[in-house]
Amino acid sequence: MNGIKDAVDDHVLATTFQRLLERPMDTGIAESSRIEVVAGLSRFLADSYTLYLKTHHFHWNVTGPQFNDLHAMFMVQYTELWTAVDLIAERIRSLDAPAPGTYREFAALTSIPESQGVPRAMDMVRQVKEGHETCCRTIRQVFPIAGKANDQATLDLLTQRLVLHEKTAWMLRSLLE
Ligand SMILES: [Fe+2]
Repeated sequence: MNGIKDAVDDHVLATTFQRLLERPMDTGIAESSRIEVVAGLSRFLADSYTLYLKTHHFHWNVTGPQFNDLHAMFMVQYTELWTAVDLIAERIRSLDAPAPGTYREFAALTSIPESQGVPRAMDMVRQVKEGHETCCRTIRQVFPIAGKANDQATLDLLTQRLVLHEKTAWMLRSLLE
């Protein structure tokens, strides 16, 4: 994802950026930096929502001898992601930008591919693990942008999310051995 800094040109976020330019805010974050942080958070929100939907989908459709364990595990994970997307979206709102919230926007912004059909149980685990790893990579791409912006609130949120995504990826990786 080379494009966070280039996201000003991203047509999906064009309305967002126009609104930011029309509504300057002075909390100590430079306006150019605020736009970059919003672009990065929008991509992270799209990743989180896409992973939420994928995990809930797998909760519904998993089959096989590990049904009980995986059905319950996916529920814990999608519930956590459902709570998280609200925190990420409201951080974007705290930066006085509109949060993306349509499937079209999320599909354009996310780095997580949709699953095809109904995968086998262990392939579900692998796909969810890869989704959490993708979230980690997106977070690490936004970190330097939020750091340069002196945006500690975003850095704190991203740090908490990184801990969760790395821990969940470890647990899923352990299931695959
Ligand atoms: Fe359920």
